[in-house]
Amino acid sequence: MRCFYAKAWIAASARRGAALALATGAARPWRGLRGVAKLLTLARTRTVTGCAQSGAAGEGQLSDRGGIFAGADPMAIVQRWLDEAELTEPNDPNAIALATVDAAGMPNVRMVLLKEIRPEGFVFYTNYESAKAGEIEGAGRAAFVLHWKSLRRQVRVRGAMRRVEGAEADAYFASRSLKSRLGAWASRQSQPLGARAELIAEVARQTARHGTNPPRPPFWGGYCLEPVEIEFWADGAFRLHDRFRWRRSGPGAAWEICRLSP
Ligand SMILES: Cc1cc2nc3c(=O)[nH]c(=O)nc-3n(C[C@H](O)[C@H](O)[C@H](O)COP(=O)(O)O)c2cc1C
Repeated sequence: MRCFYAKAWIAASARRGAALALATGAARPWRGLRGVAKLLTLARTRTVTGCAQSGAAGEGQLSDRGGIFAGADPMAIVQRWLDEAELTEPNDPNAIALATVDAAGMPNVRMVLLKEIRPEGFVFYTNYESAKAGEIEGAGRAAFVLHWKSLRRQVRVRGAMRRVEGAEADAYFASRSLKSRLGAWASRQSQPLGARAELIAEVARQTARHGTNPPRPPFWGGYCLEPVEIEFWADGAFRLHDRFRWRRSGPGAAWEICRLSP
């Protein structure tokens, strides 16, 4: 399958070239037209060599997607890179910068910890009454970036958001330390707080209330980001980095892979 976006960009450039050819045509029209012909040739070659559908037949066109970029499943590649980062990063290799957008279109970003990579998406946990949750619920979509300084690699992900609640969220909550569980009860995440002492007093209240076995708060749980786009980036000499973007129309659809200019 061809890379629609590269094709659209090049076609637009060709249109601009044609307009230029017409505009400057009075002097030497063939020059502008030669440029248009060049762009159209570029469009033909780029769309064939730059992108390919994931899987047997089309993938041969991306013959230089090997080494750390190899694999038929992008989720498995992210997992493999994360496994490597766990051996090299000083701390929190699973920290992601999660980007959301509010109702006015104002972007927002903060770190959260990626807790699971499943076939359908990337899972993290948070407070459902927090600013991020409001923005996630409002837009239904989010993006994140993973960056490992030690590996000089980056993974960018965009997609739709779905809650992870019920037994799955209960099980994850139960796996956390007692203090973290009580802290989740005590914190009204993203709300103004008068003083730290108020938070400590609230932890004491929640400890008296729940003892040593606090259930998962109803306002706390997970989100799964179901990707429609995943980009793998690795540092290259002299800024000639490698980038491969996987894109699909929705969950379950075939992936299209493009090598991108750095
Ligand atoms: C390394 C790191 C990991 C974090 N992990 C989480 C997390 O998993 N869940 C969470 O709710 N907040 C986490 N935080 C705190 C968030 O960055 C943020 O302060 C908080 O979620 C409130 O964000 P909001 O007001 O945009 O909702 C983490 C912060 C850092 C620096």
